[in-house]
Amino acid sequence: MLDINRLRADTPGCEQLVHFNNAGASLSPAVVAAAIARHQQREIRLGGYEAADAAQAETAAVYAGVARLLNARTEDIALVDNATRAWDMLFYALPLKAGDVVLTSASEYAGNYIPYLQLKQRLGIQIEVLANDEQGQVCLAALQARLQGPGVALVSLPMIASNGGVVQPVQAIGALCRAAGVLFLLDACQAAGQVPLDVRAIGCHMLTATSRKYLRGPRGVGFLYIEQALCQRLEPTFLDLHAASLVSADAFEIRADARRFESWESNLAVRLGFGAAVDYALGVGVDALWARIRHLANYLRTALHTLPGYHCQDVGQPLSGLVTFTSEHHAPAAIQHYLAHLPQRINVSVSGAASTWLDMQQRGLESVVRASVHAYNTEAELDSLVDALRAL
Ligand SMILES: Cc1ncc(COP(=O)(O)O)c(C=O)c1O
Repeated sequence: MLDINRLRADTPGCEQLVHFNNAGASLSPAVVAAAIARHQQREIRLGGYEAADAAQAETAAVYAGVARLLNARTEDIALVDNATRAWDMLFYALPLKAGDVVLTSASEYAGNYIPYLQLKQRLGIQIEVLANDEQGQVCLAALQARLQGPGVALVSLPMIASNGGVVQPVQAIGALCRAAGVLFLLDACQAAGQVPLDVRAIGCHMLTATSRKYLRGPRGVGFLYIEQALCQRLEPTFLDLHAASLVSADAFEIRADARRFESWESNLAVRLGFGAAVDYALGVGVDALWARIRHLANYLRTALHTLPGYHCQDVGQPLSGLVTFTSEHHAPAAIQHYLAHLPQRINVSVSGAASTWLDMQQRGLESVVRASVHAYNTEAELDSLVDALRAL
């Protein structure tokens, strides 16, 4: 059972405003800022390199925390600057060639779809978009049939889209990919910290995510998981003296673990803040977070369904904490502006077609209001959002 008062007391931002932009960047618990400040003080007092030496055990614990979060081995985790860079490092390392097919979903994030197009233009790979079933999830029968056909080199899709709530059946997708011997790259950017993740159960070969969304860490950190056997076969597009080492004047060796996808320089204070956020989520329990987030999101969707002039735009089952809606009378950006300028300062975001172009195009939407709830939100906060929308 979650102690909501405790979650809120741990979250200083709750005192100032009502935050429903957890799918953009969540409010961090205070332990995050404390961990960052502690290391910045070390850097000021000891020097940056000396501070990093002093923080070796804490740094190792960040990788161990992410590994626990994903039920992965510590050696299979790498930390980078953001989820896109994590994804890019993996995608561009894959040995794709002309004619290879990448299967994705209509809910794909544009930041991933653009690289597909780039390699289509550069190498001649093919992009195929899987149809959805009546639940709004990727159609498993269509996936299975396509995997039995020729040419599929990669299945790559987001577990939760940035513009809506449906959660993809990743475990079933993983099982189909494994059976067909096809690589599965899972974008868990909106899922990490929201939904329990277990890379062994899912069967994905690669997974990428960020710190700042449902994990509630600082901005500027992303991470990846890669299965050991695949890692050793993939050569990162970029190498430096952390990812590899010189063994002679004309030879280098790439390190064996997932950190071959990292670079040497990083903002260690921010990474330690991320580690504090991961530990916080693990301490509360991701199962409990997921149950609470679903409860709050359903509470909001139920209220929206009874609100004249508003349309909840979430399709499919099961749905996550990202609640999207439109109004018959006001543009999403105007609603966002109105809510942010109320005395209680309600943060929501606008999800536009530029982020999830295929899906928005299919549904004839230009943009939606996205109210993304987290476990520290309350029913009273949701009531104040619904009241404000009714009053508009
Ligand atoms: C589904 C999805 N994938 C990837 C990203 C990119 O994450 P980042 O901004 O950390 O690179 C986002 C960001 O909103 C996202 O929603």
